Amino acid sequence: MANGKILRQLIKAGATGDSKAFRRFSEAIIEDERQKQHHLLANDLEQILYGEHLQQVSGNVHSFIPNPPLDKERGLPLLDIRQPKRSLEEIILPELSMLALEELLEEHRRSDILRSYGMKASNKAIFYGPPGCGKTLAAEVVAFELDRPLAIVRLDALVSSFLGETAANLRKVFDFITENLMVVLFDEFDAIGKERDDQGEHGELRRVVNAVLQMMDAYQGRSLILAATNHEQILDAAIWRRFDEIIEFPLPSVEQIGYLLSLKLRGIRRQFDLDDKEVISLFSNNSGADIERTVRRSIKRMILRDQEFLTIKDLKNALLRENQRTTTQR
Ligand SMILES: Nc1ncnc2c1ncn2[C@@H]1O[C@H](COP(=O)(O)OP(=O)(O)OP(=O)(O)O)[C@@H](O)[C@H]1O
Ligand SMILES: [Mg+2]
Repeated sequence: MANGKILRQLIKAGATGDSKAFRRFSEAIIEDERQKQHHLLANDLEQILYGEHLQQVSGNVHSFIPNPPLDKERGLPLLDIRQPKRSLEEIILPELSMLALEELLEEHRRSDILRSYGMKASNKAIFYGPPGCGKTLAAEVVAFELDRPLAIVRLDALVSSFLGETAANLRKVFDFITENLMVVLFDEFDAIGKERDDQGEHGELRRVVNAVLQMMDAYQGRSLILAATNHEQILDAAIWRRFDEIIEFPLPSVEQIGYLLSLKLRGIRRQFDLDDKEVISLFSNNSGADIERTVRRSIKRMILRDQEFLTIKDLKNALLRENQRTTTQR
């Protein structure tokens, strides 16, 4: 049986109608029972605590998008909630990264089985790699595959100029993702990570990072937390160690460029082979996002010129235009 102290607190929370405390103490009891290897009882209690709510969320995800909490001062939503549309077939990654994503999905799809053995699905993963290599896309894919909404934490809304308000905002985000089953993405995690050691920076951001890390440590909910960064070198060991999974999103290899081209050129009639060395070499050192932009540009020209087939020359022209665009940007 659960220890007397927790039981007393649980009954007190129930009697005073404090639902957050009630949930917290219930979870402590479940955890306690699980530690004692009473898995059936723990599962049963969990079903009672979450059962109705889980059904509500996962039963018909497509019509159930909860309203996100707002920043008190400015009224901005703290999370951007989306219905994911792209599946695992829409992402091309190195084998190891793909395997890691598939494992993560499997653990969440079959978390009941893990739980009955007293184990938990990994629920914190960080994606790292250069811009445009599919980190945000992967978060969408994971949400799609798990049939959950994707919530992207808006760091701009989170960090308030009002003292103490940032911590309150974070609390709201974590409460929200505890109550609603989602895939949550802390995008551009480095924006909050990089200030940690920066002595000169104003203290608020440092406090945010520490608060995020503490809340992540304490987080017991079932939402899956993802973070993405393209500056992995500035995230220190204290941050890396918080994550169960670390997944790399590198620039595509020669082979992956071929796959990306076949994905992005699906349904387009063309006058070249996708494994043509000349075609592949056009895109060396390009990211998935670069390839997509170039291909799209070339297809538009082809359509507007009433051309029946796409040619290598079209790709080259589009690439030239893309390169112009990026050099003027710099
Ligand atoms: N590995 C990939 N497989 C398939 N499509 C990709 C891949 N990488 C990028 N893309 C395409 O490029 C778009 C932009 O990529 P995405 O936003 O996921 O990159 P990112 O890694 O999050 O970049 P950033 O670090 O700048 O946020 C995607 O929506 C997708 O259409
Ligand atoms: Mg991104």
